[in-house]
Amino acid sequence: MIIAIDGPAGAGKGTLARRLAAHFRFAYLDTGLLYRAVGRAVLDKGAAPEDPAQATRAAEALDPAALDGPALRSEDTAQAASKVSAIPSVRAALLAFQRRFAQTPPGGAKGAVLDGRDVGTVVCPAADVKLFLTATPEVRAERRVKELQERGLEAIYARVLQDMNERDARDQARALAPLTPAKDALVLDTSTLDADAVFERALRHIASLNSA
Ligand code: DC
Repeated sequence: MIIAIDGPAGAGKGTLARRLAAHFRFAYLDTGLLYRAVGRAVLDKGAAPEDPAQATRAAEALDPAALDGPALRSEDTAQAASKVSAIPSVRAALLAFQRRFAQTPPGGAKGAVLDGRDVGTVVCPAADVKLFLTATPEVRAERRVKELQERGLEAIYARVLQDMNERDARDQARALAPLTPAKDALVLDTSTLDADAVFERALRHIASLNSA
């Protein structure tokens, strides 16, 4: 079973994906981390994330087993990830790993949960469950500010909101695999829902699909 969760930054995808994976004992892949690792590698080389040759080289050299570290969570990495993700050869280089993870989840798990921007539309168009989470930009920025502050980092709401809007606009406007809900996705606006409520709704949706 494959569960695909897509949506913009701060909509609650990661939290829901982790909870569903724990609940069903499925493997979990945060596909954004792949793009972040590519973006980071390009920045660390002192190159521009918009440079297709550098970004493609970084994507082809990526070790998906080494996707850790606070540097991947920073805002400059997020912006670089969004820029490299618009390059078709970067997306192509990362596609096979994601599909393999979904079809043959590691650890002998009987299913996989993947979250990102194009899981339900491109990576796993035949996923059993597709969820698209969204929330107002203001709510998503507030969540991001809280998350940064909890990690002891300084965060200015107006700046976070601006960065997020910029990234969403780029992710939605790109020609290949833009951020958009799959036709058969359940769209959940999480603006007024807490993590428990989102989890409950997702479980109810999955149960309804299984009994159909
Ligand atoms: O989910 P995230 O914020 O870690 O993702 C970082 C960037 O990576 C996001 O702005 C766009 C890109 N991305 C993508 O293009 N496709 C995915 N499946 C996941 C992320």
